[in-house]
Amino acid sequence: MFRTEELVKTFTHGSSRIEALRGVSLAIPQGEVYGIIGRSGAGKSTLIRCLNLLERPTSGRVLLDDEDLTALPAATLRSRRRRIGMVFQHFHLLSSRSVLGNVTFPLEIQGIDRARRRARALELLDVVGLADRADDYPSRLSGGQKQRVGIARALAGSPRVLLCDEATSALDSQTSEQILDLLGEVNRVFGVTVVLITHEMSVVRAICTSAALMEDGRVVDSGPLVERVGDPSSDLGRLLLPLDPAPAADGERHLLLTFTDATAGSPVLSQLARDLGVDVTIRSGGVERIGGAEVGRLQVSLRASLPGSLRGSPGSSPGTPAGDATVDVDAVAGYLAERGVGTQVHA
Ligand SMILES: Nc1ncnc2c1ncn2[C@@H]1O[C@H](COP(=O)(O)OP(=O)(O)OP(=O)(O)O)[C@@H](O)[C@H]1O
Ligand SMILES: [Mg+2]
Repeated sequence: MFRTEELVKTFTHGSSRIEALRGVSLAIPQGEVYGIIGRSGAGKSTLIRCLNLLERPTSGRVLLDDEDLTALPAATLRSRRRRIGMVFQHFHLLSSRSVLGNVTFPLEIQGIDRARRRARALELLDVVGLADRADDYPSRLSGGQKQRVGIARALAGSPRVLLCDEATSALDSQTSEQILDLLGEVNRVFGVTVVLITHEMSVVRAICTSAALMEDGRVVDSGPLVERVGDPSSDLGRLLLPLDPAPAADGERHLLLTFTDATAGSPVLSQLARDLGVDVTIRSGGVERIGGAEVGRLQVSLRASLPGSLRGSPGSSPGTPAGDATVDVDAVAGYLAERGVGTQVHA
């Protein structure tokens, strides 16, 4: 488990002051593929650099497996950093070293003997699909291959966590997909936690299980993707499964509904129509596979369909012609909430 508590990072250059992190508290459980998303300048890279203390936070704590990294003496911190691998957008390979030499490099620094370095590096090059390129130099590799070397190098010291800052941003979409698949495999096979910074929601949808949304140095929403999509008020949920809201016509009320695994496949809307006598029309939305689960967000409009059905006007009596009455959206929301559907009433 990686944890930050009230991380603050302020850069000062002369009289200018930039508050890159303004109190970030985040918990990243072991074994997750955790996305950190946000606009340019939101503080994502600063946060990831604070996680391995490449950047010293101005205040706050960083804990890895309950040990406060910010309180460790330099020598102990160096050894703890081996539990954290880094993957960079522009690979940062050493051009004077072969592919094998790049992967053995961190092991050399750790003082591991030549034979073991070589064996470990070859094993990892096999994992990333480059066993046959061990003696090549980085200049002869494609971007995707370079990133594979970057991932093998980051795994050399058997880390518990891989920090990836825009690891696929310099790659075309097909290569990017392959690298994301590889990161997913590394997560599954080695149980390595992957923290992945990106400004592309498609990356989060493709492999993340949880995510945090950053804005202006703060985390404004975070958690498991399925849970976030299932929360109608979630900003992350909105970004993961955007809706194109349609305006409500006269006599219509709109509801935002969110479905997760348990409810996505059940006929809850047709039951609603039958039980409460309301017509339900889907205005926008969709169902997708996100975070390993089936999730959906739908905007629906409601109209009373039957005489005597649930209506907001208290004086109306059974027998009032259908269509004249408004639907009691709160009652509908309550009915759906009881069945595990997230609801939010729209104007
Ligand atoms: N070394 C530094 N000195 C001064 N300001 C910095 C430094 N590093 C980052 N900043 C500032 O901190 C803020 C957050 O930057 P950061 O690089 O963390 O954003 P980001 O979310 O990674 O953006 P991007 O998506 O563009 O990579 C920005 O305003 C940036 O200019
Ligand atoms: Mg950045």
